[in-house]
Amino acid sequence: MAQQRVALITGGTGGIGTAIVKRLAGMGHKVATNYRDEGKARAWQEKMAAQGVQAMLVKGDVSDPESCKTMVAEIEKQLGPIDILINNAGITRDTTFHKMSYQQWMDVVNTNLNACFNVTRPVIDGMRARKWGRIVQISSINGQKGQYGQANYAAAKAGMHGFTISLAQENAKFGITVNTVSPGYIATDMVMAVPEEVRAKIVAQIPLGRLGEPDEIAYAVSFFIADEAAWITGANLAINGGHYMGW
Ligand code: CAA
Ligand code: NAP
Repeated sequence: MAQQRVALITGGTGGIGTAIVKRLAGMGHKVATNYRDEGKARAWQEKMAAQGVQAMLVKGDVSDPESCKTMVAEIEKQLGPIDILINNAGITRDTTFHKMSYQQWMDVVNTNLNACFNVTRPVIDGMRARKWGRIVQISSINGQKGQYGQANYAAAKAGMHGFTISLAQENAKFGITVNTVSPGYIATDMVMAVPEEVRAKIVAQIPLGRLGEPDEIAYAVSFFIADEAAWITGANLAINGGHYMGW
């Protein structure tokens, strides 16, 4: 088995996050994630424990830099230095741009893009000092192709890959790889919130004819964080059932 490391997966209690938590824990890593609603998070933790998955929970809001500093410090105190970071927490506030409020713009940019600064900044110095690290951004197909009703989200998700390719260059000589996974439409609460008739039209555009499963994204994350993936950095892996094949 590969060396046991400490992994922080933000938004680990959500649809894709839960699959990443389970996969990384299954690889033997010590996993931690954040919560905002303690009751909901503890119920999730019990469900995980019943499946044999131990996950540390720590309070944290990825849109708040101070909260992220405290979150990282608490995880490192309890589990040890964070060697693997998966920037996965995210939200949508879909609406056409001419109806979009400043708040809807800011909420999405803060939670998806600014979170990359907030969470990665307190983690990066330790990875550089230890000369090993794995960072993965969970972006989106809609950051690559744009999406009607998602000017805020598409801008933030595209920005996440700009972050990846800059961080990858700056940290390559420190043994840190930085990559992006860009999922297509996955069967989680986020996609189920899209009106059913709109969703049916989206699924009809997917060559593989169905929504993706969270574990199909977690599998890609496990690939990027493996010891054997040491020469893969600055990459973007699109996993979308053939929905968007730009290269
Ligand atoms: N292409 C062209 N026209 C479109 C369109 C599209 N994809 N979607 C909507 N329209 C048109 C409608 O036909 C309608 O046209 P008319 O006015 O001529 O009748 C017009 O847009 C409606 O515009 P409104 O401003 O009134 O919008 P609305 O309030 O009805 O809501 C919407 C529009 C928010 C875009 C809604 O259709 C929607 O939720 N779409 C789905 C957006 C989406 O894919 N979100 C992804 C969420 S999951 C996720 O984000 C995860 C991930 O990373 C993949
Ligand atoms: P989800 O089920 O809604 O889960 C989102 C997770 O993010 C939840 O754990 C949520 O915690 C957390 N979160 C939201 N705002 C937060 C904040 N400010 N601070 C800390 N945590 C916060 O969504 P998902 O489908 O798993 O999406 C996960 C990631 O994949 C997102 O970045 C999303 O944009 C991306 N993605 C999803 C799809 C898809 O089709 N589902 C496709 C492409 C990309 P709470 O429970 O506290 O809200």
